[in-house]
Amino acid sequence: MRNLLVTGGCGFIGTNFIRHLLRRNDFLGRIVNVDLLTYAGNPENLADLAETHVARYQFVKADICDRSAMEEVFDTHRIDTVCHFAAESHVDRSIVGPAAFIRTNILGTFTLLEICRERHADIHRFHHVSTDEVYGSLGAEGLFTETTAYDPSSPYSASKAGSDHLVRAYQRTYDLPVTLSNCSNNYGPYQFPEKLIPLMILNAREGKPLPVYGDGKNVRDWLYVEDHCAAIWQVLQAGRCGETYNVGGRCEMENLQVVETICDRLDLLVPPTGDARRNLITFVADRPGHDRRYAIDCSKIETELDWQPQESFASGIEKTIQWYLDNVEWVARVRSGAYREWIATHYGDD
Ligand code: NAD
Ligand code: TYD
Repeated sequence: MRNLLVTGGCGFIGTNFIRHLLRRNDFLGRIVNVDLLTYAGNPENLADLAETHVARYQFVKADICDRSAMEEVFDTHRIDTVCHFAAESHVDRSIVGPAAFIRTNILGTFTLLEICRERHADIHRFHHVSTDEVYGSLGAEGLFTETTAYDPSSPYSASKAGSDHLVRAYQRTYDLPVTLSNCSNNYGPYQFPEKLIPLMILNAREGKPLPVYGDGKNVRDWLYVEDHCAAIWQVLQAGRCGETYNVGGRCEMENLQVVETICDRLDLLVPPTGDARRNLITFVADRPGHDRRYAIDCSKIETELDWQPQESFASGIEKTIQWYLDNVEWVARVRSGAYREWIATHYGDD
């Protein structure tokens, strides 16, 4: 792996992944990060790398659906490995505006696969980062395995399911060396504050209402983002072509439990001026098609690739809360969209 293309590297997981790789002693290659810089992509997350890792890191602003722009990236940088994160990723947005999800998640993945098909001999690996949401909802019992039938509920998960099928089809039909990972809900630094955990941390810190959908008993299996990054690295290194690896935190929690944990931890770190923060919890209308429970059986990646999550929810949420408390400027700029001026200055406004 000499020239690694990371798509969507200015988003939450991509940012953590690029930083993770550049800290590792066993990754010696170059990274080209292609990102369109949508509302979710913040190039300031990695701006320091242009100076600290000038020979090993390069950013290109481009749309993964733009065939000629992407071909130029592959040819200019002699890409031999792809780690594909770029996507529209928020379920609530997919409910109000599904079109962008179909475009980026399906057409964007198809465009990359076609470019790799044409350059088959040069491509050592195409790794596709996906989600456990493709499997739909679990009842009270059971876990998602790699052979669970797909049954997506939202336009987001349906678009990811479509992209997963395309990736597998390119392996079966064209023998493209692909791997897939389907992981559970991530949390940690740099997550855009529309997702549950950062939204709750910031609202709770500011004494704003904490909107919990439905009865708050929906279950998610929380995975600290650094554990996810380590899992992807293992799959890139040692995963078998054509295989899917489920990645989870072995950490099932009801949403209400998550929000209460954040409230209690914040009360200790930043004592509230009035009532305990749990009083800010407000039950609101449920999300349409809201999956009840996700939980991952990650025994395949544990046994085959010797990966295990290192963080418990207690340790991961502590680090995450502290990161958001320590990075108020990042939060302010992301929320106000101020970093978009920075994008306009550096990459032009379009
Ligand atoms: P994110 O929304 O934070 O980041 C997505 C990035 O993709 C952004 O930087 C955005 O600018 C970029 N992007 C969007 N459209 C693009 C396009 N057309 N061309 C180029 N770049 C584009 O998402 P995330 O949470 O970092 O998720 C990354 C990947 O992991 C996604 O594929 C997502 O489906 C998957 N995933 C995420 C989670 C999670 O909990 N966050 C869980 C499972 C799987
Ligand atoms: P989210 O972070 O949007 O991730 P996903 O939908 O991909 O699982 O939501 C996590 C859970 O939290 C999900 O069950 C929906 C719920 N939720 C709320 O209750 N309130 C909120 O404001 C948000 C954003 C999510």
